[in-house]
Amino acid sequence: MGVYEDITENFSKFFRDANEFGREISLKPFNYIFIAGMGASALPGDVVKVLKKDVPVETVRSYSLPKYANEESLVLVVSYSGNTEETLQMYNEALRKKCQIIAITSGGKLSQKCLSDSIPYIKIPSGIQPRASLPYLLVPILNLLNYDMQLDSLYAQIENSILKGKAKELAEKLQGKIPLIYSSIPPVSYRWKTQLNENAKIHTFANAFPELNHNEIEGFENLNGEYYAVFISDEGDIVRIKKRMQLTKEIIKEKGIDVTEIAMKGRNEFHRLMIEMYAGSLTSVYLAELNGTDPTQIDLIENFKKRL
Ligand code: F6R
Repeated sequence: MGVYEDITENFSKFFRDANEFGREISLKPFNYIFIAGMGASALPGDVVKVLKKDVPVETVRSYSLPKYANEESLVLVVSYSGNTEETLQMYNEALRKKCQIIAITSGGKLSQKCLSDSIPYIKIPSGIQPRASLPYLLVPILNLLNYDMQLDSLYAQIENSILKGKAKELAEKLQGKIPLIYSSIPPVSYRWKTQLNENAKIHTFANAFPELNHNEIEGFENLNGEYYAVFISDEGDIVRIKKRMQLTKEIIKEKGIDVTEIAMKGRNEFHRLMIEMYAGSLTSVYLAELNGTDPTQIDLIENFKKRL
């Protein structure tokens, strides 16, 4: 199975399956959560940071943990393959610092290290591209943290054919353009960007409100490419953010740039977040299809890793 099928057909099944993972481990008390990973394996950290309101959460995409990680920190080491060098180094550091470690991986060196160090790890299914495995990377962490996802009412939203139809229409509009993805929730625009990078294999800008009003907006003075803007608003946006989005939209439309708006409604914050991100995944694979690009292959990432 490739990324196209995994995103368009298998994604809700992945959520269902993933719900089995992460329940068996009980955590010792902690006062800080670090989520250590790279690429798609780091994204769950950004999502958990949005959802968990009772404890500081920090995603670490690096070779080392911050100095202040210590015995009272929970370090979730996430690597789909289990072979990502930066992540393995952070694992070693967490071990040295005597942090509470739980790993999430489909295998590789990380699972071997966990076994030899007697560190608990959640073994997720192998054979999927990490970026299509978001449910397997994220849901076990939320189970571990006892976050109530109410998954039963998410599946139908993922399977909704209207969402797929809209993503197809948007992919057509984005053909030949440089996407500008603007949201009030940083991981949402970032997920869109990385999905468009990795699946459609194009450059994309992503930014979030209110920050983009302090810098990126100036780029509309001297347009240096053919852009298309996607605005993603969320039911939880505060009034000032809504106003900023409206004004920014007006300004960039005046500059001749077309805009598609996605307004996410619903009472469940987790579901809104997942669907906002999923719309980006769908759009990216439909755009790949339109461009005759295979969304599964990531030759440049793999060649790069080899040459390193
Ligand atoms: C590939 C992908 C990448 C990987 C990253 C880290 O589908 O999305 O961003 O996630 O290269 O690799 P893992 O996830 O195996 O640690």
